[in-house]
Amino acid sequence: MKITVIGTGYVGLVAGACFADIGNEVWCVDVDQTKIDKLKQGIIPIYEKGLEPIVNKNFQEGRLHFSTNLLDGFDQSQFIFIAVGTPSNPDGSVDLKYVYAVAEEIAKNLKDYKLIINKSTVPVGTGKQLRDFIDQKIKERGINVDFDIVSNPEFLREGNAIEDFMNPDRVIIGTESIRAKEQMNELYSGLFKDAEPRIIFMDVRSAEVTKYASNSMLATKISFINEISNLCEKVDANVEMVRLGVGADKRIGYSFISPGIGYGGSCFPKDVKAIINTGNEYGYDMKLLKAVELINETQKAHLFDKIQNYFDNKKDGLKGKTIAIWGLAFKPETDDMRESPSQVIIRKLVEGGTKIKAHDPEAQNEAKRLFKDIETSIEYFDDNYECLKDCDALALLTEWNIYKQPNFQLIKKHLKNPIIFDGRNQYRPSEMKEMGFDYFSIGR
Ligand SMILES: NC(=O)c1ccc[n+]([C@@H]2O[C@H](COP(=O)([O-])OP(=O)(O)OC[C@H]3O[C@@H](n4cnc5c(N)ncnc54)[C@H](O)[C@@H]3O)[C@@H](O)[C@H]2O)c1
Repeated sequence: MKITVIGTGYVGLVAGACFADIGNEVWCVDVDQTKIDKLKQGIIPIYEKGLEPIVNKNFQEGRLHFSTNLLDGFDQSQFIFIAVGTPSNPDGSVDLKYVYAVAEEIAKNLKDYKLIINKSTVPVGTGKQLRDFIDQKIKERGINVDFDIVSNPEFLREGNAIEDFMNPDRVIIGTESIRAKEQMNELYSGLFKDAEPRIIFMDVRSAEVTKYASNSMLATKISFINEISNLCEKVDANVEMVRLGVGADKRIGYSFISPGIGYGGSCFPKDVKAIINTGNEYGYDMKLLKAVELINETQKAHLFDKIQNYFDNKKDGLKGKTIAIWGLAFKPETDDMRESPSQVIIRKLVEGGTKIKAHDPEAQNEAKRLFKDIETSIEYFDDNYECLKDCDALALLTEWNIYKQPNFQLIKKHLKNPIIFDGRNQYRPSEMKEMGFDYFSIGR
């Protein structure tokens, strides 16, 4: 089958590479010339486990093409995927300008029937609006072309994207067209033999809501456990024990109930904001999700508060201190720092007069770009132990494997004082005490 994917970011590149890998011919299109040039040279612009070999193999074997020109594969393609960004506006609503820019290009060039498949996360009603928009543009061209709009939201997780795409829990396909349903079924059947049970067909509007509801549910679990962890700190209970007890209930389970420093990334924060905004637009107050968002905002500052309180209690305050940071990405196995709690914590530390020495296995280049305005306060290290030298404390912000069982003696040797603030509950408080650390974690 022939496929064009418009937008070659985390979602578009993974989808394009995976569809090519099962034998389809795919054109990945992006407006970012640098990105496309890099991809043609075999350089993957993002860090995503397992992506590089799939991209390069399929590119070399001629099934995967990269271009800034939509027309390269457009006429031949039966499936046109939209996978561009849908960032938040300042009021929490979704900025659809990239989606509409793509829709305009599609409408300008459509000559025969195609499936226009929206993989970008968009608010309910967008599918219908896109249909009307493209219809209007086609009318203006004085021609008559049939097309279907399909909602096919993506659920891959950064860090596990290839596996999630190739072996998904479910594929949601929103369409009211029998023709589109059959073709989408055929396309996804290539991914897994037992296609039917995992493909869930529904109407476009329900598919659009399903994506937001799924991310909101996961964000809710995170804010829930963070709220319980804050209570545990007040009542002197251990949230890790509570988590073990709660998660053992099969109706609840263990996933997404690890306490920490709040959710980040390119999806949860913006999608929770967007569904709250949709509620407002339709006259419904999303009370639970407003609380989820508020808890998360507070939680992002929680570890900073602990660091500040510690140094305030020592009477000398934060000013003039140097804090080592392990982990900048919003989660392990990605270089993505969008809405990462590390951004909040580092900025607060720097505002408080602190210098930062930072390490992250993959996100340092992204951090340099994001922290340009405070670059004189941050130094980056390729070695996570070098980063500790002459620091007043270590703060662990992302649970990369490399930090899970570190050489504590070396940590002690390098830090000025043996103090660890653990935002991800990676170490055991009793062992840390035995080793002579002042150790602070979340909810215990
Ligand atoms: N990142 C994730 O984990 C994830 C998971 C599921 C769903 N989503 C959703 O998928 C969508 C894409 O997310 P992403 O993380 O891949 O975004 P991204 O920012 O990594 O990539 C988007 C790409 O689209 C390109 N683009 C913008 N306008 C274009 C145009 N007119 N023509 C061609 N290319 C254009 C950009 O240059 C960029 O490379 C969003 O709606 C997001 O919410 C993301």
